[in-house]
Amino acid sequence: MKDYTEINPVRTEIFRSPLVSFLYERGWRQSFNQSGFPGPAEVVCAPCYGSGLFSRKFVKSGAYSKVIAFDFSENMLRQCYDYIKQDNNISTINLGLVRADVSRLPFASGSVDAVHAGAAMHCWPSPSNAVAEICRVLRSGGVFVGTTFLRYSSSTPWIERPFRERISRNFNFFTEEEIEDLCSTCGLTNYSKKVQQTFIMFSAQKP
Ligand SMILES: C[S@@+](CC[C@H](N)C(=O)[O-])C[C@H]1O[C@@H](n2cnc3c(N)ncnc32)[C@H](O)[C@@H]1O
Repeated sequence: MKDYTEINPVRTEIFRSPLVSFLYERGWRQSFNQSGFPGPAEVVCAPCYGSGLFSRKFVKSGAYSKVIAFDFSENMLRQCYDYIKQDNNISTINLGLVRADVSRLPFASGSVDAVHAGAAMHCWPSPSNAVAEICRVLRSGGVFVGTTFLRYSSSTPWIERPFRERISRNFNFFTEEEIEDLCSTCGLTNYSKKVQQTFIMFSAQKP
């Protein structure tokens, strides 16, 4: 991917920092547990994507013929590469690392079985463009699985909601209804979700 001078929001650019990439799996990611995120060991979903946290897990499971970890951050990908080199249990034969913007994926239409976007949607410059692009690359019957932070859930105390509204000016924190709407307006069906505090895991399918 060539370097363009396109300006991305801070929520996207911050992960390109070598320091943030280094700290990500060394404490940053674990802090998500306070919002209801389960640890990677508890996740029972499928397919590929990310800084490597889940991609490594998916490769190790042996359940997928090919896993592509894609991320906009070159430093997250470098971290992923370092972790792979240190782990003798990861076969690199069916694993690829690709630097790409989620709104401009370098995959042919209808060529991907499943896309997993872990804790990522709130960082994307345009979630609606991204979900449309994910829908384009999925084959018919293919599945999109995502996890993200909700702006608030039905269990969030009213007193906390104005604070969450403020944070969502910097991050794309949606409500449960907005995420479902985002998937359906991009043509995805069979929507399902699991909510835990302000964590949501959702899945939707390309007809
Ligand atoms: C909070 S991290 C999540 C990483 C990992 N998937 C996980 O579950 O912990 C968000 C990731 O989204 C990536 N990201 C942000 N904007 C992106 C974009 N436009 N295209 C692709 N990746 C993007 C960031 O570089 C970062 O690695």
